[in-house]
Amino acid sequence: MRRITNIKDENTTGHFPIKKRVFTYSSILNRISYTGYSHIVTRTFRDFSPDLFGGTIRTMGSQWGYDRTHLRAKHEGYRSRAAYKLLEIQHKFAIIRPDDNIVDLGAAPGSWLQVERTLTQAKVVGIDLNPIAALDGVETIEGDLNDPEVQKKVLTLLGVVNVVVCDASPKLSGHKSYDQARIIELNEQALAFACKVSKQGGNFVVKSFQGTDFPELYAMTKQHYYSVKTCITRSTRKGSTELYIVAKNLVG
Ligand SMILES: C[S@@+](CC[C@H](N)C(=O)[O-])C[C@H]1O[C@@H](n2cnc3c(N)ncnc32)[C@H](O)[C@@H]1O
Repeated sequence: MRRITNIKDENTTGHFPIKKRVFTYSSILNRISYTGYSHIVTRTFRDFSPDLFGGTIRTMGSQWGYDRTHLRAKHEGYRSRAAYKLLEIQHKFAIIRPDDNIVDLGAAPGSWLQVERTLTQAKVVGIDLNPIAALDGVETIEGDLNDPEVQKKVLTLLGVVNVVVCDASPKLSGHKSYDQARIIELNEQALAFACKVSKQGGNFVVKSFQGTDFPELYAMTKQHYYSVKTCITRSTRKGSTELYIVAKNLVG
C-alpha cells in the first residue's frame, strides 16, 4: 500500500486536487496512514468478526471502552466481559451439570452468576467483598471468602455444594512479584474453601496467573482433585498471564 509522505508531492501547484481525486477504500487508508490514525481504522475493519467466546483483539488503546468483548457483553446483557470466560470453560470442560449447587467466590459484579443461573436449575450463591446487585434466583453474601461465618452461611444456604468457582482477584499494586504472591495466596484460600465445603466428586475452577509460585498451586490442587487442567480463555487480554485451573472430581 502506498504511503503519502508529503501532500505537496501529489501535485505540482501546491494545491490539493480534491475534485479530480477518486476516494477508494485504499486511497482512504493511504490518507489515514498519512494522518497517523491507520492503526485504529485498519483494526476496526479487520476485527469485527463474530466468534463464540470473544477474542483477544481490541480496536483501540483503551482496555475497557473499546474492547470488542466488553461491547459484546454490554449488548448481550452481561454485567462484565468475564461471562465469556466461564462460558468457554463450561464448553470445554463441562464443569457444571444441570442439577449442581454452585458457589461463586469473588462474584461481583455478577456476570458469572448470570451464566451459572442458565447452566443449573439448582442453587447458586455468590460471595464478594463488594455488594452484588440482585439477580433473580441467586443468593448473594457480602463478605470475605476466608471468613468462617461466610463458609457456614454457604453450607446453610446450599446444604450440598457441587461446584466452587473462583474468579476473585485482589487489588493489584502493580508490583509484579508482590501481586503474584497475593493472587496465589487467594487461590490457596479458594482451594481450601472448595475442599472444605464441596461434596466428594465436586468440581473447582480458579483464576490464577502464571509465575514462579504457580506450579506449587497446581501441584496442591492435584493432591485434592482427580483431574486437573489449565485453560487460557480466548477473551483473556493479550499479554496477560491469566489462566484458569479447572479441577474435576474432588477426592478429599
Ligand atoms: C474480576 S472480579 C470478578 C468478576 C466476576 N467473576 C464476574 O463475572 O462478574 C474479582 C472480584 O473478586 C473479589 N474479591 C477479591 N478478594 C476477595 C475475597 N477475599 N473474598 C471475596 N471476594 C473477593 C473482588 O471484590 C472483585 O469483585
